[in-house]
Amino acid sequence: MTKRNDNLLLAAGVLGAFGVGLVTGKALVRSTPASDDALPQASLLDTIALGLDVFAPAVAKGAIIRRPKVVGLAERFALDRRAVQRMQKLRNKYGEGPLMLRLPIRKQAVVLAPAHVHRVLNESPDPFSPASTEKRAALSHFEPKGVLISQGEERTERRAYNEAVLDHRQAVHSLVDSFLPKVEEEVGRMLAIARRRGELDWDAFARGWYRLVRRVVFGESAADDQELNDLTVKLRRNANWAIFHPKDRQARERFFERIAGYLARAEPGSLAGMMAGMPTTPRTEPVQQVPQWLFAFDAAGMTTFRALALLATHPDQAARARKDMRSDPARQHLPFLRATVLEAVRLWPTTPMILRQSTRATHWDNGTMPADTGVLVYAPFFHRDDQRLPHADLFTPELWLKERSDKDWPLVPFSEGAAGCPGRNLVLLLASSMLAALLDGRAVELAPGRRLDPARLPGTLDNYTLRFKFTE
Ligand code: HEM
Repeated sequence: MTKRNDNLLLAAGVLGAFGVGLVTGKALVRSTPASDDALPQASLLDTIALGLDVFAPAVAKGAIIRRPKVVGLAERFALDRRAVQRMQKLRNKYGEGPLMLRLPIRKQAVVLAPAHVHRVLNESPDPFSPASTEKRAALSHFEPKGVLISQGEERTERRAYNEAVLDHRQAVHSLVDSFLPKVEEEVGRMLAIARRRGELDWDAFARGWYRLVRRVVFGESAADDQELNDLTVKLRRNANWAIFHPKDRQARERFFERIAGYLARAEPGSLAGMMAGMPTTPRTEPVQQVPQWLFAFDAAGMTTFRALALLATHPDQAARARKDMRSDPARQHLPFLRATVLEAVRLWPTTPMILRQSTRATHWDNGTMPADTGVLVYAPFFHRDDQRLPHADLFTPELWLKERSDKDWPLVPFSEGAAGCPGRNLVLLLASSMLAALLDGRAVELAPGRRLDPARLPGTLDNYTLRFKFTE
């Protein structure tokens, strides 16, 4: 990627997130009459600094599909650590928040206190709706009727449908007996490549991971569906640009047709097979719930690979994981490996910006937030706050071995509350069983040239350049 392209991406990040016009100066700044009750507002300079350090890198890395080169740059220049430091400066200067940003056009607040994270997420979808303007702009490229950007009755119904298919409330999905052999087979293929080449890199891992995803979601007939893969990538690349890219309606229709074809086949042992037996209404739109799953499985693949890097560099925890594996040879419930996956996504959250939009005015200790305000929960700030958490930069699976509640510090890689991720348990099942299959009977280490310092884990971990060596 050229330097010019990098600059363009960063510029687009700032403009996209903040609305055109901010950088032209104070003249455009919203002149809301400051009522006595208004929330505190950040200065223009602090707002711009937040735009550059927090919003721009997140948008430039690609909110909907990652740009691997920008992820590499983010690791090299420690951009995610810098973003956390910017948030700490804001908290240290302005206190508990919520803090309004000084923006033209858009009302935008940032959450700075742990209790406020729980409040915003637990009071979703109303008055804090997940269907924020930015999310609708991006996701409507490939799932305009997806639950995440639905509201009211439609949301309620689509949410219930997602929960039912993904078996949201069960630690172990009801199709586990069909899924785990698929995991074993894909790991077998990955390891065969690793043996031939002397190492397992991202490309070989990702090929197996996406085959697994298509087999789990649609069944065997989809395992090698390259067209489906290409359509997903194309539409998501457009979605990264939100309103700055025209919608490719033809590609979107083709994508939906392809999904509908697999749902009609309803292969037993797949999510598509399960969907065939579920009641729906004209509002459910089953086809349009599936793109979110395909999209979100990306995050699960990245997280699994990063979790492997944690185990490869922490021998004591790897030994504990092996003990876990011995205690459940069927690999359906491996608490320590599940905690390892949760740690990987705490350390490197794949949804760093949890966005909400208020549907009405809400009242806080320090003032009133008007209706229609965008609310940002920046997860890495809470997950990696080294001014508050002794374990901020350390691999600490123990954090996840006990039930967490709203009294605890917010660790929200899967969000929480009624709009939290309904795929969480399915992700933990597939990722932990894949790690177990990779570790089974062999030692794993990072390939030469790559280091991970257990004493201070980096703010960004570029999954695309990780490589592993296995010793049988
Ligand atoms: C490591 C993997 C994953 C992570 C970290 C993750 C995280 C999240 C987060 C943070 C949200 C809330 C987003 C927001 O409010 O803007 C969410 C929503 C959602 N996730 Fe996941 N997710 C993952 C994988 C999956 C998978 C594999 C599926 C499906 C198979 C899935 C299905 C969904 C759905 C349907 C929603 C929307 C829920 C709603 O709006 O009510 N996720 N996820």
